[in-house]
Amino acid sequence: MADAPFVVGIGGSTRRGSSTEALVTATLGALERGGARTVLHTGDALLLPPYERTPRHAEAGRTIIEDVRRADALVIGSPGYHGSISGLVKNVLDYLEELADDPRPYVDGRPVGCIATAQGWQGAVNSLVALRQIVHALRGWPTPFGLALNVEGGLDVADPGIVGSIDLIAGQILDFTSARSARARLGV
Ligand SMILES: Cc1cc2nc3c(=O)[nH]c(=O)nc-3n(C[C@H](O)[C@H](O)[C@H](O)COP(=O)(O)O)c2cc1C
Repeated sequence: MADAPFVVGIGGSTRRGSSTEALVTATLGALERGGARTVLHTGDALLLPPYERTPRHAEAGRTIIEDVRRADALVIGSPGYHGSISGLVKNVLDYLEELADDPRPYVDGRPVGCIATAQGWQGAVNSLVALRQIVHALRGWPTPFGLALNVEGGLDVADPGIVGSIDLIAGQILDFTSARSARARLGV
C-alpha cells in the first residue's frame, strides 16, 4: 500500500441533491484531510446495465472495477428503498463479481465505511444492516461504526452530530489502513 491510502467512494442516487451522495462526499473529504487520496463514483456514473458476467458488462463497469481493484478502503452509501439498499447501488456492487478471481477477491481484507439514508429510521437501519451483510459477502470489513440516518427533515452535513459520525468512520478507516501498512512492512 502506498503511504497515502486510496479510498473509493461508491453510492448515492441519481437524484439531484442526493443526501446519500452528500454523506459519502463528506466522508471522503474527512479521509482526504486525514491524508487519503479518494475518488467518488456517484450519480449517473452508477447507471450501469443490470450485471451479468460478460465482456460487455466488464467494459461498462471498467472504471469502477479498476478503482476497487486497487483500493485500500471503500466508502459505500445507499438510500433505503423498500427496506433495503437501492437496486442501483446493489447493481454496481454486483459488478465486483469481476474481481472474483483476483489474488485479492472482491474487497477482500479492506475496510468499508457503510452509510444508509432513508425517510425513516426503520428503513435507514435495515438498509445499513443489508449493506454491511453485502460487504461481508464481498470479504470486506465493515467499519465498527456505520451511519444510518433518517433524512426526512432534511440533511445538514455540517451538523456537529453528523460531522462526528463521519469523522468516526473516516478515523476507523485510516486506523485500519495504517495497521495494514505496518503489517505489510513486516511481510506477514
Ligand atoms: C423507490 C423508493 C423506495 C423507498 N423506500 C423507503 C423505505 O422503505 N423506507 C424509508 O424510510 N424511506 C424510503 N424511501 C426514501 C429514501 O430512502 C430517502 O428519500 C433517501 O434518503 C433518498 O436518498 P437520496 O437523497 O440519496 O436520493 C424510498 C424512496 C424511493 C424512491
